[in-house]
Amino acid sequence: MVEAETEEVEEVSEEMDVTSLPGVGPATKTKLNDAGIFTILDLATAGPADIADATDVDITKAVDLNNKARKKLVEIGRLEPDFISASELLTKRKNISRLSTGSANLDELLAGGIETWAMTEFYGEFGSGKTQICHTLCAMVQLPTDQGGLDGGAVYIDTEGTFRPERLAQIAEARGMDPETVLSKVMVARAYNSAHQELIAKDLGRIIEKNKIKLVIVDSAVAHYRAEFLGRGTLAERQQRLNRFMHQLLRTAEIYNIAIILTNQVQSAPDSFFGDPTRATGGHVVAHTSTYRIYLRKAGKNRIARMIDSPYHPERDAVFMLDEKGVDDPPEEGSGSKRR
Ligand code: GTP
Ligand code: MG
Repeated sequence: MVEAETEEVEEVSEEMDVTSLPGVGPATKTKLNDAGIFTILDLATAGPADIADATDVDITKAVDLNNKARKKLVEIGRLEPDFISASELLTKRKNISRLSTGSANLDELLAGGIETWAMTEFYGEFGSGKTQICHTLCAMVQLPTDQGGLDGGAVYIDTEGTFRPERLAQIAEARGMDPETVLSKVMVARAYNSAHQELIAKDLGRIIEKNKIKLVIVDSAVAHYRAEFLGRGTLAERQQRLNRFMHQLLRTAEIYNIAIILTNQVQSAPDSFFGDPTRATGGHVVAHTSTYRIYLRKAGKNRIARMIDSPYHPERDAVFMLDEKGVDDPPEEGSGSKRR
């Protein structure tokens, strides 16, 4: 489990230690360490508001610390500077890798697969295949790059208690992979509430570095927030918390060049009288922070995926199915994506 891993005290190199930043003395170091912030990477991913909340440094100093950490990461080539030329950006973007979903149709919809350095959101009604996609990706990510993988491990943040190691083993086996090895490279964290989910997200850096993680999954990203913040009066706070969580993940994706997958439900009639069954929950915060959004729906035995609001992807449907391999292409005809 992720939590157990972080209990260990690890050596932080001098270069990466928070005290290597100008203005961080022993007192600030203690405050930061008490809040679980040990390295420059931790400081840069945390975000100023989180730093101020977790320690008793004021927000101005927190902003300053976060800026300095980001600056240092730019210096050592771990992060983009604020301004770079478009040609440099093009070179940088060549580092983006793509992860196969296990279905050629779905990969095609994604213009080659799920991107690193980005957040991809799958949303749809119950049973539309979100959790199955997540399980499949946990196996796929471990494949070598020439087989569509990223040659790395996965973190699965499970907020609904639906992660099943047995199912992952089945998928691995059906794909000709060794189930034991596959299971050993997936770190699972069960998040019991939104605060716990946020805590786990803040601790991701160390787990990612230590375990060569290339994929982080949050299944589901919004469920706890929806359950905990009921009623109109709580909406602003809920959106603020979600916003912070989403940005923490986005910074993690860019600093570590990994793929992030979020799942999300749709608004449904029972909790909102005028609920639109095709609209994702989480409102603008989730919609605007996700790099790519894919809407899933059921069509008999098949599943239909559509890329929503992407300027780079054609607007069309891709058909896939769920079987022992997890995500798969339907047999022969009907397997092609149809143009709209
Ligand atoms: P919620 O989390 O409830 O919103 O749904 P979801 O979108 O996560 O759905 P999920 O991915 O759990 O999909 C459930 C569907 O996957 C089931 O209805 C089955 O059709 C399919 N499924 C789940 N497990 C298996 C399996 O072991 N084999 C096969 N063939 N299909 C499975
Ligand atoms: Mg699910």
